[in-house]
Amino acid sequence: MMSRAILFLFAFLGLFASSWVLAAPVKELSARQIGDLQCNADRLTIVGALATMQGTLSELASSASSDPATAAGVQSVQSDVTDAQQAIGTIAKALFTGQTAPASARDQVKSALLSANSTLSGLTSTDATVSSLLQKATSELKVAGAAGEGVVANCN
Ligand SMILES: *[C@@H]1O[C@H](CO)[C@@H](O)[C@H](O)[C@H]1NC(C)=O
Repeated sequence: MMSRAILFLFAFLGLFASSWVLAAPVKELSARQIGDLQCNADRLTIVGALATMQGTLSELASSASSDPATAAGVQSVQSDVTDAQQAIGTIAKALFTGQTAPASARDQVKSALLSANSTLSGLTSTDATVSSLLQKATSELKVAGAAGEGVVANCN
């Protein structure tokens, strides 16, 4: 999972480099270039946040293993996040080969993250470690969600 995230980082950084850093002897940034910059920052953020969140979810899975309800919820969130990462992979592949990213992949990212949010927000624990990891995963998901909205707003 981690190496996949790193691959995406390179893919996006590659786009970033070709579209902005290398192309422009920097004088003034056009609105378009600023949009591209923000778009790429949002892409990096969502990829990073989801990779970090998977790490937190793995910790949660072992910390909550004696609590079947929480463990099942965590497993469902893991599967949603994996789903979102796969859809992002589809988008990255399309961008990398100069094709338009399929709208269905974008919808898949959104619905997977909404599903993860809805499951995650229903999970609670009296165990301090589990509870704190749940909060951590929730805030990582929030970062990913906000970056996803940024992608929709800034990547044309
Ligand atoms: C995530 O779930 C919480 C609790 O149900 C809700 O308040 C929040 O609006 C949800 N976030 C998104 C982005 O749907």
